[in-house]
Amino acid sequence: MTQRINPSILSADFANLQQELERISTADLVHVDVMDNHFVPNLTMGLPIVTRLQQVSPIPLDVHLMIEDAERWAPAYAEMGAYSVTFHAEASSDPVALARKLRDIGARASMAIKPNTPVEQYLDVLSEFDQILVMTVEPGFGGQSFMETMMPKLRLLDEARKKHGLDVWLQVDGGVTTDTIVVAAEAGADTFVAGSSVFNGVPADRIAELREAASIHGAHTHAGPRR
Ligand code: DX5
Ligand code: ZN
Repeated sequence: MTQRINPSILSADFANLQQELERISTADLVHVDVMDNHFVPNLTMGLPIVTRLQQVSPIPLDVHLMIEDAERWAPAYAEMGAYSVTFHAEASSDPVALARKLRDIGARASMAIKPNTPVEQYLDVLSEFDQILVMTVEPGFGGQSFMETMMPKLRLLDEARKKHGLDVWLQVDGGVTTDTIVVAAEAGADTFVAGSSVFNGVPADRIAELREAASIHGAHTHAGPRR
C-alpha cells in the first residue's frame, strides 16, 4: 500500500509561502486549508492565493475547503489545476454530484467529514470519491490533539474499500505526529496531513520521520501521486 505525507501550510510562514513550499518538496502533496470564517471560525486564504501557490509549488496541491456552499466554489479549484479538491459533506447539498463534477474537470474528488458526522451513509457511494478525509480534530485550527475516537470510521472505510476493490485514499487531518500516525495507519489511513508537527521542526526531517513511523505498520512503500 502506498502512503502519502501531506504537510499543511496552515502552520507555515504566510509571509514566505513560496520558500515554505520549497522546504516541503520531499512531501507527496501540499495540504492547503481554505477557511471562510463561516463553515469554521477562522479565515485563511481564497482562490487568488491558492492559484498562485499552484503556479509555484514543486508538489501537487491537496486543497481542503472548509467553506460553506461547496457547490459554488469547489469546481474553481479543480479548474485552476489543484490535483485534489476536498469539500466537506456538511457543506454540500449533493456530494455525489459535486464529486462527479470535480472528476469531470480533472481533479481527484475528495470529501471530508467532521468528527460528529457518521460515515455509514457514505459507504455505498464510496466509488464516487477518490479520497475520504476523516477529520481527527474539529476543523478550524492547527495544533489540536488527535481524536483517536475517529479510528472506527477509518476501519469501516478500509473494510468497505477492500470489499469493493476500490483504491480510494483514506486521509486523516488533525493532530498527526510520529505517534498518532501509527494509530491512524493501523486503522487504515494511507494519506496523512501534518501541520504543526512538520513546521515546528526542520520540515524535511519531520517528513522523513513521519514516513518512517507510518511505514512501521505493515510493508508499505512510498510513491508519489499518480494521475
Ligand atoms: C485544521 C486543518 C488542518 C491543520 C492541521 O482544521 O484542516 O489541516 O492544518 O494542523 P495540525 O497538524 O497542527 O493538527
Ligand atoms: Zn486540513
